[in-house]
Amino acid sequence: MKSLNKTLNHFKPSIFSQMSELSRRHNAVNLSQGFPDFSGPHFLLEQLKNEITDTAQDKNQYAPSKGLPILRQVLAERYRTDYDLSFDPESEITITNGATEGIYLTIAALCNPGDEVILFEPFYDSYLAAIQLVGAVPIFARLESPNFSPSLSQWEKRITPRTKLVILNTPHNPSGRVLDDSELSAFSKTVVENDLYVLSDEVYERLIFDQQVHRPIASYPGMRERTVTLSSAGKTFGVTGWKIGWALAAPELSHGIHMAHQFITFSVATPLQWAVAKALMDPQDYFQEFRSHYQNLRDLFIPPLMKFGLNASTPQGSYFCLVDTPKTFENDTEFSNYLVETIGVSAIPCSAFYSQTPPKNSQVRFCFAKKPETLQLALDRLKRIDL
Ligand SMILES: Cc1ncc(COP(=O)(O)O)c(C=O)c1O
Repeated sequence: MKSLNKTLNHFKPSIFSQMSELSRRHNAVNLSQGFPDFSGPHFLLEQLKNEITDTAQDKNQYAPSKGLPILRQVLAERYRTDYDLSFDPESEITITNGATEGIYLTIAALCNPGDEVILFEPFYDSYLAAIQLVGAVPIFARLESPNFSPSLSQWEKRITPRTKLVILNTPHNPSGRVLDDSELSAFSKTVVENDLYVLSDEVYERLIFDQQVHRPIASYPGMRERTVTLSSAGKTFGVTGWKIGWALAAPELSHGIHMAHQFITFSVATPLQWAVAKALMDPQDYFQEFRSHYQNLRDLFIPPLMKFGLNASTPQGSYFCLVDTPKTFENDTEFSNYLVETIGVSAIPCSAFYSQTPPKNSQVRFCFAKKPETLQLALDRLKRIDL
């Protein structure tokens, strides 16, 4: 028989699904995969019911391929009001099946086989897979713990005449780092000087804590034309199963993104787009509550970990926190296996976010987007860790 596609058959099932499966097998508290164990806001779920059963206007047929006009208009309004960025709903916005589809579409729209793409480790796993699927070449730079800042001296060296794209993620998964103005400014200068494109993954844009501010990289001088901004209603409304995302970019780039989308999934679930559009019309009170709810969960979970003698980081954004592997364990994989099998709590070993060799001080990632009682149960078990 002739051989199958080499790239796809070389991929392995994702660590996130594997850890959830291990969690089930050991009856562990699942703090590994990144999703809330509580429902999205009541008003959003009610809205969806209304949209699905709206008999006056059947909202259960195909949506236009680019996305519902109402959702694209509302998004344009959000970016204008919240970030002072203007996007034309007709030619610069595509609604995607979650940000994950947006990642693939962006890389497919920009890269020819052999083009180089710089990505910062630790990274969300679908970046590398998308690069490999289109035949582009991944080039790795490091975000060093504990700061997780894209050090210019480090990543500038990776730029060659073949570099096409660099992938940025803030707030960052898995570290929870929110890049500040000076870091974004330095990053954007290098991008412009070297005539690169940026895929900016901003799915946790609304999940920022304390005094942090999220600044889209597209708002920096010279960046508007060379950035694809991606985000997701799954994160913003805590409904990861809805898979509604968006990609914002200049018209020519948006055209490529839309063409890839048109022939891969064609369009995104219509009633869900209606519900998200209505929810994004006037969301400021919701955003405020959303943020403080997650901040409370963060503050419920992390201080006790430190009391137990674990070295846990306090994230500036996202719903993840990193914990150093205690010296008594060989590495993060051994530690996370011990956690799920012996302690009854699952976490992701951070080596999964690296292409090859993870740093020496390896860490595990916990997701704290869980009900207070789930976090309390996890803490009751984590107390028993033998350090
Ligand atoms: C950094 C990052 N980007 C993208 C995604 C995927 O977003 P979506 O569920 O909208 O596809 C995730 C989900 O965990 C993520 O952590």
